[in-house]
Amino acid sequence: MRFLLYIFLLLTIFSSCNNEKTKYKIGISQCSGDVWRNKQNSELKMENNITEKAELCFATAFDNSERQIYQIDSLVKLGIDLLIVAPNQEKNISQAIDKAFDSGIPVIVFERKTNSKKYTAFVSADNFEMGYQTGLYICKQLYGRGNVMEILGLKGSSPAKERHEGFLKALNEFPNVKVVSTLQGDWTEQTAYNAVKSLKELPQNIDFVFGHNDRTALGARKAFEEVFEKDSLPKFCGIDGLPGETGGIKLVRDTLLDMTFIYPTRGDLLLKLAFDILEQKDFQKETLLTSSIVTKDNANVLYLEAEEMQHQWEKLEMLQEKAGQYMQQLNAQKTFTVLAGIVVILLMVLAVTVYRYFIQKERIAEEREALNKNKLQFYTDISHQLRTQLTLIEGPLSTLSSTDEIKKLSPENSEMFTVLCRNTSRLSELINRLLESQSGKHSGGLSFSEIDTMTVKTAPQDTPAVKTSENAFTLLIVDDNADILTYLKRILSPFYNVVEASDGNLGLQTAEKEVPDLIISDIMMPVMDGLEFCRRVKENIITSHIPVILLTARSLDENFVEGFKSGADAYITKPFSENLLLARIDNLLKNRHLLKNIWEKVSEPVAKEQPEIKEEEVSKPAIVEDAFIKRFKEYVDKNLADSELSVETIAADLGLSRVQLYRKIKALTGCTPVDLLRKARLSLGKEMLKDCTKSVSEVAYACGFTSPAYFTKCFKDEYGVAPGDGRK
Ligand code: FRU
Repeated sequence: MRFLLYIFLLLTIFSSCNNEKTKYKIGISQCSGDVWRNKQNSELKMENNITEKAELCFATAFDNSERQIYQIDSLVKLGIDLLIVAPNQEKNISQAIDKAFDSGIPVIVFERKTNSKKYTAFVSADNFEMGYQTGLYICKQLYGRGNVMEILGLKGSSPAKERHEGFLKALNEFPNVKVVSTLQGDWTEQTAYNAVKSLKELPQNIDFVFGHNDRTALGARKAFEEVFEKDSLPKFCGIDGLPGETGGIKLVRDTLLDMTFIYPTRGDLLLKLAFDILEQKDFQKETLLTSSIVTKDNANVLYLEAEEMQHQWEKLEMLQEKAGQYMQQLNAQKTFTVLAGIVVILLMVLAVTVYRYFIQKERIAEEREALNKNKLQFYTDISHQLRTQLTLIEGPLSTLSSTDEIKKLSPENSEMFTVLCRNTSRLSELINRLLESQSGKHSGGLSFSEIDTMTVKTAPQDTPAVKTSENAFTLLIVDDNADILTYLKRILSPFYNVVEASDGNLGLQTAEKEVPDLIISDIMMPVMDGLEFCRRVKENIITSHIPVILLTARSLDENFVEGFKSGADAYITKPFSENLLLARIDNLLKNRHLLKNIWEKVSEPVAKEQPEIKEEEVSKPAIVEDAFIKRFKEYVDKNLADSELSVETIAADLGLSRVQLYRKIKALTGCTPVDLLRKARLSLGKEMLKDCTKSVSEVAYACGFTSPAYFTKCFKDEYGVAPGDGRK
């Protein structure tokens, strides 16, 4: 979940990085909606498209001051960063503009004034000057004598006031030029037309009509045209001088107007100024735009120029439109890339989640397996404990049952003893069943009870002969349970020499030192367990030949296999009966295949009796044995002629003590090393006697005997004939 959150954050950062820079919000409040305003608006837009710095919000009041006040307030509420305003009338709009200015919004007033000074910058052409120049033009055209009509712009708007004032100033300089009529207009063609039409009588003697803008002049002309013939019409002057089909320049070219002034729109300049203010660069607070006069002398050139400009402008607009389309495509691509990124990341998250799910599942399975193993181990341990205790009850009970004291018991006590025996074996059976059902292991291999049965069957039925001499076999018992040690000692010591050790480590030391004829070891012991102990016994050249019986409570098949892998020769599970154990030991000792004459047959396998186990699992000790015998044989063969060769030297050179060598050789071949040495010498002598050039004495010395008489005696004992006889 947290991972997803990180991704979301990352994506947000990523997408915000891609976002265009935060743009300025610029509000444009236009007093009117006419061609002149439209031209200015499109210049503003074009400039903004080039810089791409702002979002422009246009509002048009359509010559209505109340509407403009409302629109300015709305723009402020919209959160504009700067206001560009052309106030419809001086007085009414001031308050709204002041409010915006006071709230910290920079204000550019353009083209029309307010009666407040609360603005950041002001941009306009000089309306007074244009009125004045128009006045001068007319007076000059009239050579200082004539009548004029003036149609004013909207009452209360500053250009109307200033144009009028400028016009009067010029006329003052020409006292014979008279203003015979002043009509109130409102910048529109229709109002001017209506104003002229509303006159009861249209003055006959008017030479010039000055409309405060071209539209006004045209409206007046239309009204005049309705009354007068074309050649008796007065001349008309206006202001604005717009390009295009309906613009003032064409009107002058077509002689509908006599003169006009280009009243510059300069939307580009306005927006540049706005950015300078917003970016806190230096700017001019008051900007006066230059205007120029258009008469029949320059109208045609200006018209053509304006037309050319218009073409360029249209091309530019087309290019901008295309650029806009490309930008849209780019944005769509960006969005697609972001979305693709999201999908890829989500897929990755999904993959990670699935991966983690499987890892977790695996871990749970492993944990479960570990738990099962622990459980199994627990039952194995319990089993060991229970079976050990049972051995210590069952064993002594069975020993007791064959004693005279028990046979002499009263019927009641005898009955009680039988109950005791019966329930002990019942208990043993129940525990077996319980443990086997708990461990749940009944695979294809042999179960431990089967091993016991098998062992009993193959064991000889007679018990071993009671220990009679020092030559009795030596057994090593390795067990950490003192009771078991005592019990085993009691069972075994009548028949064998018994040595003991309480753990695997001590067991190894004792085995090396004593080289016993057989080892009985528990499996579960501290320090070194029975399996490891058995493995080490079988790997050690001194002890590798010693049969090992693993005595254990472990009843699981794999433990049994493990036991044999470690090289164990037999496996007896607890609880066991005395007889079974004795029979098993006796069997192992008697069934050892002794290597009768290693000089005839060296690699006869050492006795092994075990269920079917893979070769590699048991071959190790056998290899150790073979290698040892081979080494022994090679060594003796090499040094046979040396009459000084003794068991001590052989043992030392083979890395064993005399006792160890003695016991090992005895266990493997049934002969003592001295016997073997003698047999080897005799065998060599027998071979040498075939060569008739050597005398018996020479042969005797050559094969390491110190006396020919002794050689002869031994030869006779071994082969039944005298050395000389053999030659014949
Ligand atoms: C445009 C316009 C022009 C005129 C100017 C005066 O809205 O009416 O025709 O010259 O405004 O402010």
